[in-house]
Parts: sequence; structure tokens; C-alpha cells
Amino acid sequence: MKKIEKVHALGGTISVPGDKSISHRSVMLGAIAEGDTYVRGFLKSADCMATIGCFRKMGIRIEERHGEARRYFGDAGEDESVLIIHGNGLRGLRDPGGTLDAMNSGTTVRLLSGILAGQNFVSRITGDDSLRRRPMGRIIRPLGLMGVMCATEGNSERLPMTIFGGKPHAVRYTSPIASAQVKSCVLLAGLYAQDPTFYTEPALSRNHTELMLGSFGANLKVKKKSDGGAATSILYPGTMLRGQKISVPGDISSAAYFLAAGLIVRDSEITLTHVGINETRDGILRVIRSMGGDLTVDNIRMEGGETVADLIVRSSSLRGTTISGSMIPTLIDEIPVIAVMAACAHGTTVIRDAAELKVKESNRLHEICRDLRLMGVRVDETEDGMVIYGGGRLRGARIDPRGDHRLAMAFSIAGLVSDGSVEITDESCVEISYPGFYDDLYRLE
Ligand code: S3P
Repeated sequence: MKKIEKVHALGGTISVPGDKSISHRSVMLGAIAEGDTYVRGFLKSADCMATIGCFRKMGIRIEERHGEARRYFGDAGEDESVLIIHGNGLRGLRDPGGTLDAMNSGTTVRLLSGILAGQNFVSRITGDDSLRRRPMGRIIRPLGLMGVMCATEGNSERLPMTIFGGKPHAVRYTSPIASAQVKSCVLLAGLYAQDPTFYTEPALSRNHTELMLGSFGANLKVKKKSDGGAATSILYPGTMLRGQKISVPGDISSAAYFLAAGLIVRDSEITLTHVGINETRDGILRVIRSMGGDLTVDNIRMEGGETVADLIVRSSSLRGTTISGSMIPTLIDEIPVIAVMAACAHGTTVIRDAAELKVKESNRLHEICRDLRLMGVRVDETEDGMVIYGGGRLRGARIDPRGDHRLAMAFSIAGLVSDGSVEITDESCVEISYPGFYDDLYRLE
């Protein structure tokens, strides 16, 4: 159990760990590329280790070399390590001869399924209790249209799932949901097709797969609607993927906890260096601005196709806001901590169009509302979001994050401003995306 007490000020500089989405993709594309891929800033969290475990089981050699990043990245620190993935080509994975385990990681199972669709063997994949409750129909349907059968027990569309890999054919798929995991699954399967694959989504979801596929040499085009809404990605197969050097920026989803902390704790100033601010992920920054938060985005630069910046926040008097529509996919993982900010803000915050929160590591819509109420916050749960009536005092509570890392971290931040301590039962789930979260938090006190 972790006990969080109220603090009177926070200050300092933190370099948050590497982006989870980019770390997963670096291993996956590295494994199916020709030649070696070198990754710097890789996130060694439980989710990303699940991806490494699956590829090792399929014969891919992946090694971590301590203190050797500088051999491949001239400006790397002396003690920085590098992850090397020895790629084996598009169809070079070996039959694992047993069930693959994606553990808690939705990204692992959904993206990997796209790659397994193109392998010449039948594979079976499962995960932990939480992942086995999450919907897989969203990938089973498009893969089925591509001629790849995925079987689940009693058609439950839940893991474990058997994938009958082979030769996917191209598809023109319009997804009912804005999900980067589904989009990536279809595009990765499209690498094995003969004709171009078209994938349209209702709002642009994170585009790391498209960016990274492009840098590995794939031929891919994205057509965006000018209003930031629907987007179509077109993958033209037939090019070979070549191993790359990848610098993983800090994860904005991890930075979000400290952005929130710096804003809601009095007399605070926090700097977060080297954070990825890709436009498909930067919704939290726009929300902070619309809530009147004091945020500076400094030193904006491009690194390996991703936009990176240093972020500085100072204590602010926040006001309520409305978050909906095409903004939701750009901040989907930050909603737990945004809800905490909203509870501390004056006025009402309305979150709409966020039904996807029900099928994350927990039913986040329900859990956020329940935990906010435990802390004395008035909140209404709606069909696709919530209404938070902010401005009151937060009271201490015992929070059970139910294995959901983002709930554990968001409510730890709430504990920094509550009257009475917040106790997080089983805080170890933070390892899923942010090992060292509490060390970084204590460093700011
Ligand atoms: C992710 C996509 C998002 C996000 C998840 C990581 C990815 O999920 O919530 O944490 O790396 O592609 P959905 O695509 O299901 O929205």
C-alpha cells in the first residue's frame, strides 16, 4: 500500500521515461525489418517487456547493452543503454510452439495480431485477467475481412485467441472507433497483402505506427480531413522494412501526472524535459490551456519524425472545461488525471464521446467516478463520459486501483492536495507503464 500525504509545494525537473506506444512499435517493426534496430530511451515497463517476451519466443534476438548507446547515438549519455533488435524480415518469425502471453498489454495483443496474420503458422495468444476481459472483436472483424480467421472460445471475442496466419488480402476498412491499436493491427497485416490497404477512422488516433512504418521504408500515405476529424491511412505493400535507429521521447501520458501535480499543488513549478508532443497525443496540453493553466512549451524540436519539447507548469487556479469529439483520442489515457484536475478546478467539467474508457485496463469511466466520490467530489457518470463539479475540498480515501496503473497514478496525484491521506492499495501496477513513478514524485517534494 502507498500512502500519499498533502504537500505544500513541488519543484524540480524530471525526465519522464520513454513513450510506451513508441517503445512497443520499435520492437515490433525492428523484429520484422531486415537488419538491426537500435533503440535509445526504450521504456522498460511491464507492458513493453511483454512485447519483448513474445518476440523472443518467436526467435527474435533482442539484447540490452548497458552504457553503449553512445556507440550508435553520438549525443547519448555515457551510462545510457541501447536496446538492439536483430530483425529477421517480414516473414521471419518462428512458430513459438506455445501460447504467447501479452500480460496486461492491449497494445501488444492488438498490434502483434496484425503481424501474426501474415506469418505461416497458427498462433495462440492470451493475457492476464484484465486483458482477457477486453474486446477483441474490433480486430477480429477487420482481420476476417482480410481473410485471416481468429478464433476465440465460444465466439466470446475475448482472449485466448487463435490466429490462423497466412496471406492476408488488402481491405478498405472504415472503423467505427478511433483506435490506434485497431488501425495499427490492420496496417501491419496490410504489409503482407498484395494490394493497398485503406483504413479510415472517425477521428485521427495516435499515428506512431504510420510515422515509424514510414521511417522503416514502408510506402504509406495519410489523408486527413481539414477539420481534424476523419482520416484515411493507405499502406502500399511491397517495400522491405529496414532496421533503424530510434530515439524514444518521454511519454506525454506519464508526464501528464506531473503536469497536473504542478498545476494543482500551491507554490509549485515543475519542468519536464524531452517529452513527445506529437499532435495526435497533445490533447492534455490543450486542456490545460483551456482550464487556464500556466504552461510553457519550450525548446520544440523534431527527433526521428516525432515532435519533442520541454514542458514547464506552475501552480494555477484552474477552471472547468468541456472535452469531446476528435479531441478525445488525443488524450484518451490522460482522462483519469484530467478528472483529478477537474475536481480541483472551479466550475464544471464535461467529458463526452469517451465511451472507449469503459474498455481500457478497467472500466475507467466507472472507476474514476467511484474514486472521485470516495474523495468527496460530486460527479455524474454518463453514457459516454462524466460531469465533474469541481472546486470543493478533496478528502482522503483508500483507493483500490483494481490493477489499473493510470488510476493508481492519477489518484496518487489527488492525494497531494487532499485533506487526509490517500492510500493506494496495491500500487505496484504503476510498473505497467511507469516503473519509478513514486521515486520521481518524491524527488519533486
Ligand atoms: C495505444 C492506443 C490507445 C491507448 C493505449 C495505447 C497504442 O488505445 O489507450 O494505451 O499504443 O496504440 P486504443 O487504440 O484502443 O484507443
